[in-house]
Amino acid sequence: MTLILGIETSCDETAAAVVADGRAIRSNVIASQVDIHRRYGGIFPEVASRQHVLSILPVTEEAMSNANVVWDDLAAVAVTYGPGLAGSLLVGVNAAKGLAWGRGLPLVGVNHIEAHIYANWLGDAPPPEFPLVCLVVSGGHSELMLMKGHGQYRRLGGTLDDAAGEAFDKVGRVLGLSYPGGPAIQEAARAGVPTAYNLPRAWLPGTYDFSFSGLKTAVLRVVQKNQPKTDDRATAKPRLVSSQTPPVLRMLPVANLAASFQAAVVDVLVDKTCRAAEEYGAQTVLLAGGVAANELLRAEMSRQSPVPVRCPPPELCTDNAAMVASNGFFRFEMGERAGWDLDVVPSLRLTTEAPD
Ligand code: KG4
Ligand code: ZN
Repeated sequence: MTLILGIETSCDETAAAVVADGRAIRSNVIASQVDIHRRYGGIFPEVASRQHVLSILPVTEEAMSNANVVWDDLAAVAVTYGPGLAGSLLVGVNAAKGLAWGRGLPLVGVNHIEAHIYANWLGDAPPPEFPLVCLVVSGGHSELMLMKGHGQYRRLGGTLDDAAGEAFDKVGRVLGLSYPGGPAIQEAARAGVPTAYNLPRAWLPGTYDFSFSGLKTAVLRVVQKNQPKTDDRATAKPRLVSSQTPPVLRMLPVANLAASFQAAVVDVLVDKTCRAAEEYGAQTVLLAGGVAANELLRAEMSRQSPVPVRCPPPELCTDNAAMVASNGFFRFEMGERAGWDLDVVPSLRLTTEAPD
C-alpha cells in the first residue's frame, strides 16, 4: 500500500490529507478562510497567504494524526505548485519541501487543475473509464478536456473570459448575496423560476469554448433597472434587497434572477460537454472543480449525457488535499519526482497534446 501526504494552499483553503493508493482517504483536513474573506466580498491575497502560514503545520499534523500514520509510513509528499495565488502557493510548497527534506521523503509537484480531476478517483467506485471528457469548472478555471489515459490530456475548449465560478461569485455580489456566490446562488435559486428572465447564452458555435461575461452584464442590467428612480439614489438601497420590501416580495426577484442565471450557465456547460462526449467517443463524463458541486449542473449533466457521468461528492469538488494526494499518487507511480528547487507557478497550465 502506498500512502501519500497531500498539501494544498493554492487559494483560500489550507488543506492536508493522507490517501492510500490514490483512492482511499485516510484523513482530509481543511482549514477554510471563507469567513475571513467574506467581509471583503472575495479573496484578499495577502490575508490568505498570512493565514496559510498560521494554519499549515497544525493542519498537516492533524491530517497525520487523523490518518493514524507516522512519517515513515509515507511514500511521498505531494503539493500543489500551481496554478493559484503566488503568496498562497509559496506557503504550501515550502512547507512540503521542508517536511519531505526533513523526513527523507520524495516530493511530487501537483497541478491544481489536474488534482480537481483526480477527485473522481477517490472512493470505492470502479475507477473512471478512458477515454473520457472532463469539465473542470472552478473559481479560476473552466476547461473542457479529453483525457485518454493518466496524465494524457487534450484541451477541447475553455472560457474566453470569466471562469464559471468567477461568474457565480460576481453575480452573487451583484444580487447582494454572501460570498462565495456559487452556493448562495444555488440556495436563492430554490425559490425561483428559471424561465423568469430570458438571459443570454453564449453558444460560440463550432467551438467548445465558453463565455460568461455577457451573461454577467445582463444580470447587472436587470438589477440596475430595478434600482429606485428617486433623486436620493445615492443613499437608497437597491429595491431588490430593500429592507422596506416585505420579505416574500424581497426574495422573489432575487430568487428568479438567481435561478435564471444558474439555468443559463448550466445549459451551456451541459450542452457543450455532452456534444464533446459524443464527438470524441467518450466512455465517461467527469465533472470537477467547485462549480461541479452545483446540484442543477450535476442533475442536468446526468440527465442529458450520452454516457455515464461521474462527479466527486460536493465536499471533494471544492478545494481539498485528498485530490492532491490522489493525483500525487498517480504521478508518483509514473516515476515523477520534483527537485528541491520546485517553485510555484501561479499561471501553470495542464500539459496537453496538440489538437489533431
Ligand atoms: O475549486 P474551488 O474550490 O476553487 C478554485 O480552484 O477556484 O472552486 C470555488 C468556486 C467558487 O467560485 C464557488 O462560488 C464555486 O466554486 N462553487 C459553486 C458551488 N459551490 C462552490 N458554484 C455553483 N454552485 C455551487 N453549489
Ligand atoms: Zn480549486
